[in-house]
Amino acid sequence: MDLKIVDNYSKMSEMAANIVAGLMQSKKDAVLGLATGSTPEGMYARLVEMYRQGKIDFNSVVTFNLDEYVGLAPDHPQSYHQYMKKNLFDHVNIKPSNTSIPHCSGNDNPGEVCAEFETKIKQAGGIDLQVLGIGVNGHIGFNEPASHLRTTTHLVELAEETIKANSRFFESVDKVPRKAITMGMGSIMGAKKVLLLASGENKAEAVRDSFSGFISTETPASLLQLHRDVLVVVDQEAASLIKSSFL
Ligand code: GLP
Repeated sequence: MDLKIVDNYSKMSEMAANIVAGLMQSKKDAVLGLATGSTPEGMYARLVEMYRQGKIDFNSVVTFNLDEYVGLAPDHPQSYHQYMKKNLFDHVNIKPSNTSIPHCSGNDNPGEVCAEFETKIKQAGGIDLQVLGIGVNGHIGFNEPASHLRTTTHLVELAEETIKANSRFFESVDKVPRKAITMGMGSIMGAKKVLLLASGENKAEAVRDSFSGFISTETPASLLQLHRDVLVVVDQEAASLIKSSFL
């Protein structure tokens, strides 16, 4: 695992965008695993900028999103479908048919949705680069702290901490969906390269618990330490609880 501490959010976003762009330049049909949340917004803005400058091309790029709330229609303003359109897809030449976000309406069978999503990742040849944020409780995607974690894409009950953290995007905490579909730990660990981003003081504990040399399913991101090609890019605030002896 490689951990880079950068000055601030802007530097973190710049480094992340350069890594994604570098892959896209060396592999036109790169398969990207994408994350949502506040953390990667700056990275997406820079990728849109690079696209406008003609430095990168999304024409053959394939994407898979980590997760989505259950029961939110794709056109719901707080759905991750809308997030991706707003932050990236609407501004670049990606083919909608090359983008996949798990979607489960109230009527769908979650098991079938999850199995289809896993099959699609396999058919695409696997994920080249998985971008991740991290929850305040150490979750990745929506793999919440638990005594057991699931390997493949699955239905989850969101942790209270996650519902509270994500309520800032909704009118009130009651409007936050209680369930989601998320790639599992195996789907994430199967990516050829993983890039985890964290910014801000509220992520400092999660970063410390995840990357200090111990692994626990109670801190899902800590399992990434077992992946052979992980880059963690954090800003000073998010790194503030990491002791230098761990680096
Ligand atoms: C959400 C998403 C995660 C994301 C995390 C952190 O719940 N499911 O993929 O990494 O929360 O979000 P933020 O970057 O807004 O702090």
